[in-house]
Amino acid sequence: MRKLIIAGNWKMNNDLNQSEKLIVELKNLLQNEKPNCDVIICPPFTSLSEASKLIKGSIIKLGAQNMHFEDSGAFTGEVSAPMLKSVGCEYVILGHSERRTIFGETDELINKKIKKALSAGLKPIFCVGELLEEREKGSTNDVVKRQVLKGLDGVSANDMTKLIIAYEPVWAIGTGKTATPAQAQEVHEFIRDLIEVNYSLEVANELTIQYGGSVKPENAKELISQKDIDGALVGGACLKADSFMGIIKGA
Ligand code: PGA
Repeated sequence: MRKLIIAGNWKMNNDLNQSEKLIVELKNLLQNEKPNCDVIICPPFTSLSEASKLIKGSIIKLGAQNMHFEDSGAFTGEVSAPMLKSVGCEYVILGHSERRTIFGETDELINKKIKKALSAGLKPIFCVGELLEEREKGSTNDVVKRQVLKGLDGVSANDMTKLIIAYEPVWAIGTGKTATPAQAQEVHEFIRDLIEVNYSLEVANELTIQYGGSVKPENAKELISQKDIDGALVGGACLKADSFMGIIKGA
């Protein structure tokens, strides 16, 4: 049985005070619960250090939303894997579609980041997903295959046990349009088959594949109950403790 993982991607939301408030609220809601899933929050860089103190003693784990592939140097505005480790991060989101489309990140760049994260002891939440026009053209599988294989180029079978893939159809992110459970399951199964062919059945069976794109308390349960959907990467609905909690309960 694969463990379900619910992760909240806060994106560029919540200053330090707002972050503290949200974490305290979430901790309170989780106090008397024994969720059937792991819970990860990914606040902005400026809140990570405080977040790692606040989550102590709770089941919440910490992730960042991005990082650079070098350890240090003249890279103005960037943050490295050792820096994220030093503030208590265990996970890092890499290859999010907003990084790909707004900031021009390529499969090759994302691959360098994934390899650096793994060698530094961070667990990547590696995002893939097609644009609306790519789905309409019928090229969803080709796009996802390219992103998965290029992103994982040179990643060992052993390191695959530390990595999560998040399938996030770009047309479903922040739009309120969720993929139907059947549409999502189809791509998740495709990704798992791809991993089986390129690694092994064992690696494929152990891999956590999250769905992301307008996940809410109302649709989480049905999505996550699909055979190959092992949790969710949540944007908008993780910014309120009660709706994030609704998704955790759905899992
Ligand atoms: P959303 O974002 O839940 O707001 O659609 C998901 C994501 O971008 O990870």
